Amino acid sequence: MSLFRLDASIRIEGSHSREIADIVEQEWLTGHPGEQVSRRHLGTEPVAATTWATAVGASYVPEGERSADQRVAAAEAARAVDELVAADALLFAVPLYNFGVSQHFKSWVDLVITDPRMAAGVAPATAGKPAVLVTVRGGSYAAGTPREGWDHATGWMRRILADVWQLDLSVVESEFTLVGVNPALDQFKDLAEELRQQAEERAREHGRSLGGVLTH
Ligand SMILES: Cc1cc2nc3c(=O)[nH]c(=O)nc-3n(C[C@H](O)[C@H](O)[C@H](O)COP(=O)(O)O)c2cc1C
Repeated sequence: MSLFRLDASIRIEGSHSREIADIVEQEWLTGHPGEQVSRRHLGTEPVAATTWATAVGASYVPEGERSADQRVAAAEAARAVDELVAADALLFAVPLYNFGVSQHFKSWVDLVITDPRMAAGVAPATAGKPAVLVTVRGGSYAAGTPREGWDHATGWMRRILADVWQLDLSVVESEFTLVGVNPALDQFKDLAEELRQQAEERAREHGRSLGGVLTH
């Protein structure tokens, strides 16, 4: 058994998405002792901005006629899909940035979809694989709050992971991670603590069930 983990936070120290994903990973390792975790750190080692367009170009050209750049980009896409296919379970940790999806995560998703195994119109090579998405937000986007409807990342990520890639997806969401950092949010200290505990509990649950270990 193996777990593939992708992190998209642009920071290492103090990263809430990494801390919550660590809980999922630890639970998975408890159920699969000694098994392998492979990793991708997109926040610190992103896919180059030009790779996706070059890989799209490569997909229109017969393999033998591709330029050197196209061969490199297509190989990078294939490697990204190989990582997904090789793993028995997947874990994604992706923060909200500027009301949208992390550009690093988007670039990686776009690159994956250039590979023939994940292209539109084919059964995705990831179909049925168990996966957990951990997503964190500095503010709150709950129903009735001023920013309701402003989170344009989580819905898109669910679409791609659950509907397009057909993963068996569970989602852990954690909000108000900027409480304690942004003084304007000080009034939400207790709520933020409560939300964090709920997120950690969900992370434990989903980590335990990821890859077939039943929780009940
Ligand atoms: C450049 C930047 C943009 C951000 N934009 C938003 C945003 O639009 N909405 C929000 O709620 N939080 C936003 N945040 C806050 C992050 O979502 C929050 O700090 C989160 O915890 C980051 O993930 P991490 O803790 O794993 O690093 C932003 C943070 C950064 C650094």
